Amino acid sequence: MIRILGISGSLRATSSNNVILKTVAGMAAGKADLTIYDGLADLPHFNDSEMTPPAVERFRQLLAEADAVFICTPEYAFGVPGSLKNALDWTVGTGDFVNKPVALVTASSKGDKAHAALSDTLTAISASIPEGGKLLISFVRSKLNEKGEVTDPATMDALRSVLDALIRHTTSSLN
Ligand SMILES: Cc1cc2nc3c(=O)[nH]c(=O)nc-3n(C[C@H](O)[C@H](O)[C@H](O)COP(=O)(O)O)c2cc1C
Repeated sequence: MIRILGISGSLRATSSNNVILKTVAGMAAGKADLTIYDGLADLPHFNDSEMTPPAVERFRQLLAEADAVFICTPEYAFGVPGSLKNALDWTVGTGDFVNKPVALVTASSKGDKAHAALSDTLTAISASIPEGGKLLISFVRSKLNEKGEVTDPATMDALRSVLDALIRHTTSSLN
């Protein structure tokens, strides 16, 4: 079974993106093992000193162990949340994302600017985004309930399709 590292770009306790990532983890059951990264808030701001902070070592280790990555993020102030961008900046020098299959979901009020910017960043770090591996979910809060469930059937279908594209792409790149 392929291993997927889920990364949420939101640190908020009631995050919509965390709800979506947990929903995708549930969808993956039996097909892939999706573990959600819990260390985004522990990463120090990027610098290129010679000492690698332990939190960064751990992040790189989790990336190395993952066959694929599933990113789910909001847009903040017309951009990619700083904590997520910071995490990706730490991987530029070490190439942790090179040829790594990555799915990208941006779930926000609107989200188009962060979606485009993050697509560019993933290209810059040579991630391998499968055909059908990107999804923009606008008006995200209208598609969830307060119990932490995705209530919109079209959104559920679209998430399933992105996950399937990622699994297919990862499986074929491993063979
Ligand atoms: C600091 C902040 C900035 C935001 N800026 C934007 C924005 O530029 N574009 C947008 O579509 N939504 C923006 N929003 C609304 C978020 O899309 C919405 O709150 C979403 O639920 C955040 O995702 P999360 O619940 O996973 O944290 C912003 C929200 C916050 C808290």
